[in-house]
Amino acid sequence: METDSDRFLTPEEIQEDTETTNPLRPKTFAEYVGQEKVKENMSVFIEATKMRKEPLDHVLLYGPPGLGKTTLASIVANELCVNIKITSGPAIERPGDVAAILTNLNQGDVLFIDEIHRISRSVEEILYPSMEDFSIDIVTGKGQMAACYHLPIPNFTLIGATTRAGQLTAPLRDRFGVVLKLELYTKEELFTIITRSAKILNMPIDDPGAMEIASRSRGTPRIANRLLKRVRDFAQVMNSSFIDRKIARIALKKLGIDDLGLDNNDRRMLTTLIKLYGGGPVGIETLAASIGEETVTIEDVYEPYLLQAEFLSRTPRGRCATPRAYSHLGIKNEKVKER
Ligand SMILES: Nc1ncnc2c1ncn2[C@@H]1O[C@H](COP(=O)(O)OP(=O)(O)O)[C@@H](O)[C@H]1O
Ligand SMILES: [Mg+2]
Repeated sequence: METDSDRFLTPEEIQEDTETTNPLRPKTFAEYVGQEKVKENMSVFIEATKMRKEPLDHVLLYGPPGLGKTTLASIVANELCVNIKITSGPAIERPGDVAAILTNLNQGDVLFIDEIHRISRSVEEILYPSMEDFSIDIVTGKGQMAACYHLPIPNFTLIGATTRAGQLTAPLRDRFGVVLKLELYTKEELFTIITRSAKILNMPIDDPGAMEIASRSRGTPRIANRLLKRVRDFAQVMNSSFIDRKIARIALKKLGIDDLGLDNNDRRMLTTLIKLYGGGPVGIETLAASIGEETVTIEDVYEPYLLQAEFLSRTPRGRCATPRAYSHLGIKNEKVKER
């Protein structure tokens, strides 16, 4: 169980919560909990677009994994009554791939490109004119036999999703008319999501039970749903017909997730930061190397919650452990008494 929990809190998609088959994925704005500002903005743009009978401007969604970017894109397509074609940056290998996708779209369709920061330069170059003028230029043959075709494509809406808006090239970022940032969810919002999911999964849960899971879900709906499913397993094995606070606590403890939602990896990183580097500041690369993780994993997966929950602070000179981190881990903070 302990080793399993290592990968357990990753907000990355795993098979059990993929795309179309996932019954927990909201299909309308009404079901989409939280992100009020984003919803409000999107609703206005969608309404205006419908009135003008034009395709929606291109939208860039960014924020940590598991916060609802893919879900939101599907909802937007749904509300616009158009089809959505889902692909991802790494999946589009050659310019020809993107040309094929674009020419197969219908008027007004949504093209969703996940991890858009990972598309290649040559693909990006086809995307520019397609986003701007709804046309692509295709070169066939080589040398004297080379020919260039200017091909109109349907007016479409590109919805790009990325965990890191900073990694997009400026020309690509500039071509998005709408840029929206998704925020971590509050406990109350996660509570609502968990209660809704439990209903869909046919597993009764009481309010304290749902709140217990909500407060340990790192502000992330995907993690909340995943924890709910695991707690449900424990409830069933323990012969309980519903989830209450006690069962939630037992299950989460077994999964290695502590009272504040930190897992073994978080604790390992904070402990390293404190014991090896005196609590920081230490550069992110150094920290990553010390715990044997990729820098991006720390930035995308660990940090957003640790920063928000004030276990970690980011300074120009590197990462620092906060007093809250010391007290949570039960480590004495030598620096405090100096003042
Ligand atoms: N606002 C929300 N309300 C309810 N459930 C949500 C919400 N956002 C995400 N979810 C749940 O979390 C899961 C992950 O969301 P997803 O859109 O795949 O995240 P992302 O694309 O940002 O990584 C979805 O399958 C859905 O069940
Ligand atoms: Mg996604």
